[in-house]
Amino acid sequence: MSASIVLGTQWGDEGKGKVIDILASRADVVVRSQGGNNAGHTVANNGQTYKLRLIPSGILYKDTLCLIGAGVVLNPKDFLGEIEGMQARGISCDNLKIDPRAHIVLPWHIELDGLSEAFRGGKDIGTTRRGIGPAYMDKYERSGIRFYDLIHPEIFAEKARATGRLRNEIITKVFGGTPVDIEAMIEEYTEYGKRLAKYEGDVSVLTYEAQKAGKTILFEGAQATLLDIDYGTYPYVTSSHPVSGGVCTGTGVGPKMIDEIYGVAKAYTTRVGKGPFPTELFDSTGDYIRDKGGEYGTNTGRPRRIGWFDSVIMRHAVRVNGLTGIVVNKLDTLAGIDTLKICTAYKKADGTIITDFPPTLEGLEGCEPVYEEHKGFNDDISGCRSFEELPEVCREYIERLEELCECKIKMVGVGPDREQIIERD
Ligand code: IMP
Repeated sequence: MSASIVLGTQWGDEGKGKVIDILASRADVVVRSQGGNNAGHTVANNGQTYKLRLIPSGILYKDTLCLIGAGVVLNPKDFLGEIEGMQARGISCDNLKIDPRAHIVLPWHIELDGLSEAFRGGKDIGTTRRGIGPAYMDKYERSGIRFYDLIHPEIFAEKARATGRLRNEIITKVFGGTPVDIEAMIEEYTEYGKRLAKYEGDVSVLTYEAQKAGKTILFEGAQATLLDIDYGTYPYVTSSHPVSGGVCTGTGVGPKMIDEIYGVAKAYTTRVGKGPFPTELFDSTGDYIRDKGGEYGTNTGRPRRIGWFDSVIMRHAVRVNGLTGIVVNKLDTLAGIDTLKICTAYKKADGTIITDFPPTLEGLEGCEPVYEEHKGFNDDISGCRSFEELPEVCREYIERLEELCECKIKMVGVGPDREQIIERD
């Protein structure tokens, strides 16, 4: 019996899917607590590749209960498409439950996401344009529509008319956009609600009962620490709380329930969208890592920005999340680079050295990474299954990261498959 969280420590796409899949195979319950279909996990399992957006990875195991918590924003149309896609491949979705409190992403959220990004001009955030920010705006403005409303047609129609009218005013009068046909939307989404009604379940209660019954629970994170609305590089962040605290509010569990908090990182750093990225590479080494590591968005296909491993942001992630262990993925991608760099601190414009990640964009401005250099490696490490099998330079690199991050590195990824992982405990 245990409860673990797996979350991202950098700007997302750290390969959480693989780690989650490994742990999901040992879990009875897998819970998603925040974000929406802006996330994209690729899971390679039994020679098959699955791209998951909202459905928890536990779905690949037929007896695992998969829960979508109150902190998630759910796009019903996309979600039904995901369910159908899984069913078409012979995966049952019968063990899926959605909290009635989870908010719904509606067409005006998607419209407003695109319009406000365009309105920001060159200062856009680079969102996934899935309507995530506007859906959370409605939630916090207390005019959102929740899963409970969606599956009760009369409540849904009444709330959709009230909210939709105002959203259309904003779409047309503020942005000059095309209004959403509210009645047609109500008709379409009422059908989605009918099909989804059977999945309703109180995730807080289900998780609590599962723990009392001695089950193993996994909370799977989406996005990552540096994209957290408070602890990320605001405003270049997502609108939810991908940090460990968000798991508690997003699923309705207390912090004392959690035993392990795994933070997933790459052996380098990537970011999609705009915003600061101190160790970003603009040279051929960056291109090499992008191509070798296949660093293109799962969901949007956007090329990812690439940089060296940054222990300043990692220490921030260790502190903010209370990590009990780190997983370093994609070490194999670094093979073939003569000299590897690790950022140990930042140097401010006035020459001061800082080791704590600045809380504001202004504090980050002018910060230059301070690097230490490590000898690279050429060996194919994709077949290594124990730490001892890794070449000495790789072991030294990992041990140094561990020292700088002030947290145990419990797993090292050496390839995309589930088996290509070295577990150190
Ligand atoms: P939004 O979540 O669509 O509002 O986008 C806000 C920022 O978060 C943008 O920079 C996105 O690229 C980034 N983002 C959102 N979801 C993910 C993810 O799953 N991986 C990486 N970046 C993400």
